[in-house]
Amino acid sequence: MRIIRTKAELKAHVRELKRSGKTIGLVPTMGFLHEGHLSLIDIARGKADAVIVSVFVNPTQFAPNEDFDSYPRDFDRDAALCAEHGANAVFAPEPEEMYDPSASTWVEEVSLSKPLCGASRPTFFRGVTTVVSKLFHLAQPDIAVFGQKDAQQLLVVSRMVRDLDFPIEIIAAPLVRGQDGLALSSRNRYLTPDEHLRATNLHRSLVEARAKIEAARAVKSEFIEAAKEVITAAGGKVDYVSALDRTTLREPTAGTTQILLAAAAWFGTTRLIDNELIDF
Ligand code: PAF
Repeated sequence: MRIIRTKAELKAHVRELKRSGKTIGLVPTMGFLHEGHLSLIDIARGKADAVIVSVFVNPTQFAPNEDFDSYPRDFDRDAALCAEHGANAVFAPEPEEMYDPSASTWVEEVSLSKPLCGASRPTFFRGVTTVVSKLFHLAQPDIAVFGQKDAQQLLVVSRMVRDLDFPIEIIAAPLVRGQDGLALSSRNRYLTPDEHLRATNLHRSLVEARAKIEAARAVKSEFIEAAKEVITAAGGKVDYVSALDRTTLREPTAGTTQILLAAAAWFGTTRLIDNELIDF
């Protein structure tokens, strides 16, 4: 497996793969890989001849008050895991390699990126769409795999691919949970054992709300309020709990058949997200 640090090397590697007729699968990550990421690599391997995993903690998607500096990093472990899971290359550039100091261009989706995480992290998604566009141009993948855990990110990236005609198929990979139900996330690393235990209520709050929505075949504000109560009673601070039409990320209408039930909450200083998909 190759470890690639520069854009020039990545382009050369991609040229080589294309010349030998290989299809390319890209798995964009910020590293500190867990079982969720590894499942993305496994899916990519099943769908493409060669898999490139990017490991890049992208500064442009962090606000100045967020955890860019403290975001967990362990490159040697990440590289070993990528090799074990059959990746052909890991692309791990430094921020200075990825971004010219005078860069002044953003790629921004301006509808699906506004509610939910976009409301509390207003510059997050333009950082994501900008870096993902750059990764798509550099790696020229046939497919790219994103986790359903970041449901809004998946929708925003899919919209960007459609709107900007990237010739890439976006594959959604199922959310992976620990045995206690907590969605796997690199940020779980920040939780104390007590916070970890309490954070499992984030999932419980959504499972309970989901059952009520499915039984009523409707979203009622009391279901959302009850979910917030579950999180608050567990010592969490709610950012949002929301059930939106999955295609528009707006309030459900009479014609809505697919709901994204999503939540974000802080346990201690760690902000966690989770979601459930509901089909009527
Ligand atoms: O989901 C992530 O880890 C990041 O947002 C991504 C897609 C790798 C872009 O930096």
